[in-house]
Parts: sequence; C-alpha cells; structure tokens
Amino acid sequence: MLSAEIRALAAERKAVILAHNYTRGEVQDVADFTGDSLELARKAATVEADVIVFCGVYFMAETAKILNPSKTVLIPDPTAGCPMADMITGAQLRDLKAQHPGAMAVCYVNSTAEVKAECDLCVTSGNAEKVMATVPRDREVIFVPDSHLGDHIATREGRTYVLWPGYCPTHARLTAKAIADARAAHPGAPVIVHPECARDVRDAADERLSTGGMCRYARESAASTILVGTEVGLLHRLRQENPEKTFVPVSEALVCPNMKKTTLENLAESLREMKTPVEVDPTVAARAKRAIDAMLAI
Ligand code: 13P
Ligand code: SF4
Repeated sequence: MLSAEIRALAAERKAVILAHNYTRGEVQDVADFTGDSLELARKAATVEADVIVFCGVYFMAETAKILNPSKTVLIPDPTAGCPMADMITGAQLRDLKAQHPGAMAVCYVNSTAEVKAECDLCVTSGNAEKVMATVPRDREVIFVPDSHLGDHIATREGRTYVLWPGYCPTHARLTAKAIADARAAHPGAPVIVHPECARDVRDAADERLSTGGMCRYARESAASTILVGTEVGLLHRLRQENPEKTFVPVSEALVCPNMKKTTLENLAESLREMKTPVEVDPTVAARAKRAIDAMLAI
C-alpha cells in the first residue's frame, strides 16, 4: 500500500511530512502533522528532521525553507501555487510603500518570499488580530495581498489599512445566499467561515476563524451540527476529530485546486526521488525571515 511505502520512505529519509488542513484526506492521514498555516510555520521552525516534505501550496513550503535554510524542503508538486499570493509582486509593493512613506508593511503569510522580504511583519489568519494589536495605533498600515482578511482585522480594530485588492478565488465562491440557504436547511446550526471570505459573507456568519480556529471551535462547541464555510478539505479533519458531530459544507464549490495537487502518488515519488527541493535566494530569504520571525515572536 502506498501509505505504508510513504511512511517507510519518510523513516529512511529522516523526513517529516507536514500537511495543510485543505489537502486530500488520504494525504492528511499519512502526514506526521496536519495544521493551519500558523501551526505549520511553527512546526517547520522547530522540526528536527533532515527533510521536510510540505503538502500544501508553494508559499507554505517556501516559508518552511526560509525558517530552515539548512534543511531540505520538498514539495511534491511545485506547480501547487496560491493565486492570491501571486496577486502582488515585490515591485508593486515597493511602489505602494513609496506612496505611503513611514507605513508599516504587513503581509498575509499567503505571499511570495519576494513580498515578505519587503515587509516589516507577517500574519496568518490564526494570529492576525493578536499580531496587529502590537502595531501602534498612529502608524499607517499597508496590508497585502488579501483585501478581505485585511478588511476583517481593520474592522475589528476600528482602524483603516491601505489594502491591496487581492483575494482567494476559492473563498470568493462563497455567497451570503449560500449561508442563508444552509441556515434554512439546518435551523439553529452555527455558521463558521474563513476570514478570506468577502465582508457580506463574514457578516452573515456566526464566527470568522482560521482553519485551526475552526478545529478548536468544533471541539468546544455544544452544537451537534456545524455549517462550515471554507475549503472542503477541512471537513475530513473535523469529521475525524468529532465523530459525534455533523459538519455540513456551506458550499461544495469551495475546492482549492492547488491544495488538491498533492496526492499519495506524488508524495511517494517526492520521497523516493527527493523532489522537488524548494530554494529561496538567500538574500531574499534573510529579509523575509525577519517578517516571519517578528510574527512568531508575538
Ligand atoms: P489557514 O489554514 O491559516 O486558516 O489558511 C487558509 C488558507 O487559505 C491557506 O491557504
Ligand atoms: Fe490560496 Fe485560497 Fe487556495 Fe488558500 S484556498 S491556497 S488562499 S487559493
């Protein structure tokens, strides 16, 4: 069986397999650790293995490499990108910074190393509010690339950020009407959505949480049915960890094609052939690491 071969290869290579909550269920099951972006970054920063195989999208593997320049970081399919991360370039961010001298440049972790290198601080959806609370109120904030997460945190903080018009094409498929329909079909069930959703969708939900936050909510909630507005891969873990509860996707259309690119086949091949190593220019990596370290220190 492929899963057994993957575990044997991981032991042979002294490799740790990290998987994001949105990856295929069978990939999550074979991984050493499954989590949200923040949990995976923390894990990547402390892992002792020689090799990290990252099952997720490119910016996540890149973040693991930035945190561990001396380790081998492999991504089974290097074409697994994040369209939102690619919505802003380093040059575009430099232009924006020139228009707002003195502003604090903050990036969502869903960004390229080149963009992180231009930033003072990095955030994930799991810690954005806590991290942004450390930024002085009188300091102007540029937030890239996710306009929705930026708007969500700025609104909660009661201040205004300079936002870049980036968005997640997967979460953009969730509508307030889908939430209303799901509520009508499951009266009384709470609705949880990801902060990458648009404002009207976030407003229509009961909670706005990172995928790790959703796992905690599912554990702690007294509700027997929970309506989930995020990429459907998370449902695997929610159901596995809470077999007595019912989880209903608010929309079946929330599938991130890039998160599905890691399969047991290419994961096994990745370990067999040690491919594909993630490389980040050391100068860019060192600058990007400052923004990530500033986040991890909070
Ligand atoms: P989190 O797992 O941090 O909530 O991130 C969601 C996401 O879209 C990752 O690409
Ligand atoms: Fe990027 Fe959205 Fe896919 Fe996450 S779910 S990797 S933000 S496109």
